[in-house]
Amino acid sequence: MCGIIGYIGIEECYPIIMDGLRKMEYRGYDSYGIAVCENHKIELRKHVGKISEDGSKSIPGKMGIGHTRWATHGNVTEKNAHPHFDNKKDIAIVHNGIIENFSWLKKMLEKHGHKFRSDTDSEVIAHLIETYYKGDLEKAVYKAVGLLEGTYGILAIQMSEEKIVAARNGSPVVIGVSESGNIIASDVSAIVQKTKDIIYLKDGQMASVTKDNVRIMGRTFRKIENEIEKIEWDIKEIEKKGFKHFMLKEIMEQPESLQNTMLGRIKNDSIKLSTGLSKDFLQNMRRVVITACGTSWHAAIVGKYLIEKMCNIPVEVDYASEFRYRDPLIGKDDLVIVISQSGETADTLAALHEAKKKGVKTLGIVNVVGSTIARESENGIYIHAGPEIGVASTKAFTSQIISLILLALSINQELGKNVDEELLKSLKSIPEKISSVLETSAGIRNVAEYFYNHPNALYLGRGINFPVALEGALKLKEISYIHAEGYPAAEMKHGPIALVDEKMPVVFIANKNGESYKKIMSNMQEIKARNGVIITIATEGDEEIKKISDHVIYVPKCREELMPIINTIPLQLLAYHIADLKGLDPDKPKNLAKSVTVE
Ligand code: G6P
Repeated sequence: MCGIIGYIGIEECYPIIMDGLRKMEYRGYDSYGIAVCENHKIELRKHVGKISEDGSKSIPGKMGIGHTRWATHGNVTEKNAHPHFDNKKDIAIVHNGIIENFSWLKKMLEKHGHKFRSDTDSEVIAHLIETYYKGDLEKAVYKAVGLLEGTYGILAIQMSEEKIVAARNGSPVVIGVSESGNIIASDVSAIVQKTKDIIYLKDGQMASVTKDNVRIMGRTFRKIENEIEKIEWDIKEIEKKGFKHFMLKEIMEQPESLQNTMLGRIKNDSIKLSTGLSKDFLQNMRRVVITACGTSWHAAIVGKYLIEKMCNIPVEVDYASEFRYRDPLIGKDDLVIVISQSGETADTLAALHEAKKKGVKTLGIVNVVGSTIARESENGIYIHAGPEIGVASTKAFTSQIISLILLALSINQELGKNVDEELLKSLKSIPEKISSVLETSAGIRNVAEYFYNHPNALYLGRGINFPVALEGALKLKEISYIHAEGYPAAEMKHGPIALVDEKMPVVFIANKNGESYKKIMSNMQEIKARNGVIITIATEGDEEIKKISDHVIYVPKCREELMPIINTIPLQLLAYHIADLKGLDPDKPKNLAKSVTVE
């Protein structure tokens, strides 16, 4: 959710921290702040609003910490922005996560004379460190975090010590090591500008970072070694490359991102996907349970249709936030798949822990390399979609679907079933087909012009395109603030139809080659009979559909398994153009955050 960053080295820290905050702004963007230490004095600055609009002067100093906030406790105000001071203003901290026992800690600290300046849960951390501070910041942080319940990624500085102390439990902390200094952040994107040598802090670990040294400590405060890993990111990947918004860039990148998901995984008409799942396990596998949140949950539903149809194995899909608390009935012959773009979503991570606790085999489908879910899943598939910065997920969704198709194909291959060569051929042609859909962007903008001042919308699809309807509605809601609902087309008769009149745009996904084409045509008639305005995603060459639709967006014909990918692209573009026409910033929709690391 929030982004934290710290720098200590031989360079001025202010521009490095501000640049890092800008890169992490997608994690939270309601307010931000920075604390710089020089000559045994900490200067603090906090602002409400966007970092991109910051015009303040830099603060001199070579050690500092910064924070970009997504409010959980306390309103969006300057006083609630991080960093937070202790009583004496000798110690400053930034925090990402939630301290669940903060009210109790606050009461206890207040009894001992501590005065709080904010309504946040995080401020208790600074005061606790102060309580334990006896000239050694590492020890004070170690003792303070021992009292914390909840999740945290913390950075702390003290005015007389030339070090940043970091602690992690449930919220990511990565350390970038370089000759000119070290950076600590919640996200690699904030570090890659300086170095590609990364140390990942694990849960329960702490780090003491000076300008030329990184010391990692485990739960018992003993020194341990974490490997330095080389990341393959390129700074250019997290720039807009001339596009107005990251979201548009990421939509347009899909021919390439999908190509990358498949790269090296289809060879000579066979699948080369190393999932780590053994033949023995697959032969006895009884059921697959897929769990995720948000857009990844929609990919999970597509996965259900795909795996059940292609592999003949029952699949259940559950919201991670429900799965983790309902004591799920899972056993050793089940496979639990967790899907997450960020690899850090708190509920998805907890669902993974729940499955592991029950001794069930797990497989993560993740985008961010080295993220917590990727590291903690027993088996895994990286989707290799590249960094996704726009808060509303786009290219990750389509790459998740391709990964699920590759998984289904590889399960069949491992079990000795014939590989569906025709599907492999269609997979190879998908980037080209996506490119042709992207070329219709201008036409989709015309549809958006009709659409953008309507307050409500309905998205309807059947079968494998039902989750596409859900995803189309979610995209619209997230970035344009138009209320939208996705429904299975037939289910619409059991409620939503009551809302349909000439003011209700209804988006249908109605591919001619789909199994349920005729049925969905009847649903369109039902909407037309109530004067609803029909926008249809249809298959090229389907002239018939024009008679009943008010607007048609054509997509190329392809195998049914791939239609959710092809059909999603125009819906992403539609939502994007609507938000843009409304003058909204689709990269930073209000109240949302890219990486939801709180429950
Ligand atoms: C947030 C994001 C969504 C994303 C969801 C799940 O709500 O705004 O775009 O789909 O989290 O995130 P994950 O990283 O686990 O896929």
